[in-house]
Amino acid sequence: MELPLSNINLEKLPHHIAIIMDGNGRWAKLQGKPRVFGHKSGVTAVREVTEAAAEIGIKYLTLYAFSTENWSRPSIEVNALMSLLVETVRKELDTLKKNNIRLFAIGDLSQLPDKTRKALLEGIEKTKYNTRMTLVLALNYSARFEILNAAKKMAETINKDGKRVDEIGTEEFSSYLTTNGIPDPELLIRTSGEQRISNFLLWQIAYSELYFTPVLWPDFKKEHFYSAIIDYQNRERRFGMTSEQILKTS
Ligand code: IPE
Ligand code: IPE
Ligand code: MG
Repeated sequence: MELPLSNINLEKLPHHIAIIMDGNGRWAKLQGKPRVFGHKSGVTAVREVTEAAAEIGIKYLTLYAFSTENWSRPSIEVNALMSLLVETVRKELDTLKKNNIRLFAIGDLSQLPDKTRKALLEGIEKTKYNTRMTLVLALNYSARFEILNAAKKMAETINKDGKRVDEIGTEEFSSYLTTNGIPDPELLIRTSGEQRISNFLLWQIAYSELYFTPVLWPDFKKEHFYSAIIDYQNRERRFGMTSEQILKTS
């Protein structure tokens, strides 16, 4: 059942919501259409959710758009996804500017086709001073690659500065990740009924609330997004403590 906006407690919003947008292919198949048609329809849901998130006051929205593993798909699909990205970023740029939304990207952008990377970097550059919400696209993203890279960069700094290894804490380690400066997501949503993480934000979701819905991504509407937030707001986040301890401090 979809719950309306009025049921959301605006005082208790997550700062950061991350979404694994899944089910485009199955959605297309159900209508006897090629998979690419599903991806195109998925853009509508991206627009809808971005708007909903900004409207209610979410500060960071991260969307998993393409995983490093997705390169293994048929090249016709990969090419279509890369073109769709260019097209979407270009088309939506004015709306992002008008709505004061900053575009950002995580993942290994260096491996993207030139056209895709250029469109993306242009979008990022042109919205960099926007303050209402940051829309983070995870592109050619792999959490393990990100963590490994962070460890390598940190090791380099240690070698250079002669810093002691036992001085490094989790916060310092986080600063080597591509999400540096972005708070960890309090809520992670995955559509399409799959209940797995698929190499997304492994470090950052250590204490995230997970929300799985059978809705296929192209069908995901504002109301589904609100339902996920309401579900999140009804949970007790204990961070290892007891329920009694949490109730005492809240
Ligand atoms: C998610 O939908 C979009 C991307 C991974 C780019 P899928 O394309 O994975 O759709 P299903 O899982 O095959 O239905
Ligand atoms: C995860 O979806 C990646 C994105 C949503 C971009 P997949 O559909 O690729 O995940 P798996 O392979 O089914 O786990
Ligand atoms: Mg999938």
